[in-house]
Amino acid sequence: MDRRTFLGTGAAVVAAAGILGIVETAQAASTESANSEIKPLPKPDLNSGKPLMTCLKERQANHSPGSGELDQATLGALLWSAWGVNREDGKRVIPTARNRQEAAVYAVLSDGVWEYLPKEHAIKRVLAGDQRARFDGAACILLFAAPEKDRFAAFHVGSMYQNVGLYCASAGLQNCVKAQLRDTLKGELPLPPEWAVLMTQSVGR
Ligand SMILES: Cc1cc2nc3c(=O)[nH]c(=O)nc-3n(C[C@H](O)[C@H](O)[C@H](O)COP(=O)(O)O)c2cc1C
Repeated sequence: MDRRTFLGTGAAVVAAAGILGIVETAQAASTESANSEIKPLPKPDLNSGKPLMTCLKERQANHSPGSGELDQATLGALLWSAWGVNREDGKRVIPTARNRQEAAVYAVLSDGVWEYLPKEHAIKRVLAGDQRARFDGAACILLFAAPEKDRFAAFHVGSMYQNVGLYCASAGLQNCVKAQLRDTLKGELPLPPEWAVLMTQSVGR
């Protein structure tokens, strides 16, 4: 089952996106369990940040990113950098093979694990509770998921974590890509069959 079919089976409906697929207030009309709360994220400030060349110079891993909470604007910019809609035709900040967009991004936060909804620029809770100690205790751990057998999946995930690494350099955040943590929530996320978390990225201040 591909992701579009899989998502079509879900009951959560969010208000249509505005310009560039980003809305300030997405309306949630969830008929799923209490876990499926949907929160809109602030629009990313597209005029913020350091010049790209400075970000490239400053990108680096910090193996122990801090645990201080990220504000919603930072979280929104982080997720948008990874997997956001950047054009009116619904295409993304990263390229995908044949524009199939077969990937998903989750954020492990203090109040649960949330799936990023790119079209709505919102997050939807998929797991309750603070799971961060099961990873490395960073403020936010991003999980990049895709079909395991897709030969292009690693390219897509690599594009995501590189965008996030550059955003972190731009915003003065610490981050580290960690393959060792990718199975931490194995079997607990609502992934389509044969999808898996292929990489994680811990982010903090
Ligand atoms: C595919 C990949 C997997 C990685 N897995 C881990 C990991 O499991 N644990 C960890 O601490 N760092 C991991 N890293 C971070 C690397 O150790 C780090 O990027 C490397 O030391 C180079 O440092 P730099 O990112 O500052 O250039 C990984 C990096 C990549 C690209």
